[in-house]
Amino acid sequence: MTTQFATPTNIESLDFSLTEDQQIIKDVVSELAHKEFAPKAAEIDKNHRFPRENFNLLASSDLCGLPFPELYGGAQMDHVAYAIVVEELAKACATTSVIYSAHVSLCATPIYIFGTEMQKQKFLKPLCSGKKMGAFALSEPDSGSDSAAAKCMAKLNGDKFILNGSKNWITNGIEADYYIVIAQTDLTLKHKGLVALIVEKDTPGFTFGKLEDKLGIKGSSTCQINFENSPVSVENMLGDIGDGFKVAMVTLDGGRIGIAAQACGIAQGALNHANHYAKERIAFGKPINNFQAIQFMLAEIQTEIDAARLLTYHASLAQDKGLKFTKEAATAKLFASEMCMRNTIKCVQIFGGSGYVTDYPAERYMRDAKITEIYEGTSEIQRLVIANSLLK
Ligand code: CAA
Repeated sequence: MTTQFATPTNIESLDFSLTEDQQIIKDVVSELAHKEFAPKAAEIDKNHRFPRENFNLLASSDLCGLPFPELYGGAQMDHVAYAIVVEELAKACATTSVIYSAHVSLCATPIYIFGTEMQKQKFLKPLCSGKKMGAFALSEPDSGSDSAAAKCMAKLNGDKFILNGSKNWITNGIEADYYIVIAQTDLTLKHKGLVALIVEKDTPGFTFGKLEDKLGIKGSSTCQINFENSPVSVENMLGDIGDGFKVAMVTLDGGRIGIAAQACGIAQGALNHANHYAKERIAFGKPINNFQAIQFMLAEIQTEIDAARLLTYHASLAQDKGLKFTKEAATAKLFASEMCMRNTIKCVQIFGGSGYVTDYPAERYMRDAKITEIYEGTSEIQRLVIANSLLK
């Protein structure tokens, strides 16, 4: 008797070689990140400084609207190219990569997917040019993994929603101009009552809480945002009342690929430094990369990064082909983020005592790695999403 296995998507035969355009963007961003962002990464980390000039450089390099149509000022490139850009940035400076991915994946993308033409003209265009910066507000003090439990209220009053409540862990917090805010219209409806609103920074009653003092990605400006009787026009609603949960989940599907790419970049950046250090560091009369203990570590780390990158490209290709990629994005994020954490710890080990001090970047990569297992859905949530796709 033969067993029939269901194939949820037909993406097993996807081609993984980079196109000419993808290779060009990789080379251009790699050089930009190496020259402009890497030299400042330690200072940004030390001073918890938001690198506005890095964002401006991404904007002037036409990267802020990378995956969106030229009609809106985008570069009309695919999502594999987007993953490549995020990885190249993260190799040099994880802070810069998350500022960029929150802007593109979490703010511009839902406006592109769910927005009206008027919303795209008004909000997506300045996001693509980088004149405005974007953020995404889903989590709350009492709702993190359980997004449907959001209590920040949006009460419809005529042609305006009146927002009251708080949102937590907002990347690009104080620095952004537009925020995609997921709010509740009717607590009894749970996820079916949520609405997604584009909220502008100068909205009355919109204030910021304290900047979080984080373990890593220290320059990325993370804070709570608060609303007190803040009016938001119905013209700023993405989709309809009740679509907020779907907007958030679809947005996070794409965002999770960005975090997988970020994790690949952090791990590869850490490995590149460890590899270089192992060539220079002498122990027992020879460079430590002469020892198999170090060689095997280097080999295993590179193998794991390559595997994570393939999962990331696999998810991006599925997205580009218009296939459902929820499981693929969760798989890439789960594997890449845990791979990143494991291996940045190993890179610190290769540096020995020098890995434990800020004279070398190894400890920064290790601290930056941890958040990839937490934001845009913890590893536990990714396991849940993957399991749900198998149980269907
Ligand atoms: N795409 C489209 N629709 C989806 C979907 C997806 N990926 N996932 C779920 N849905 C739909 C379901 O089909 C269902 O639809 P119906 O009501 O029509 O049946 C509905 O949404 C509810 O689905 P579930 O019952 O599965 O929802 P749930 O309440 O059990 O939650 C969850 C599922 C996966 C746990 C979800 O809540 C989740 O992803 N939680 C994690 C949230 C998260 O990642 N937060 C990070 C915040 S962003 C951030 O980190 C900040 C930053 O700035 C970086």
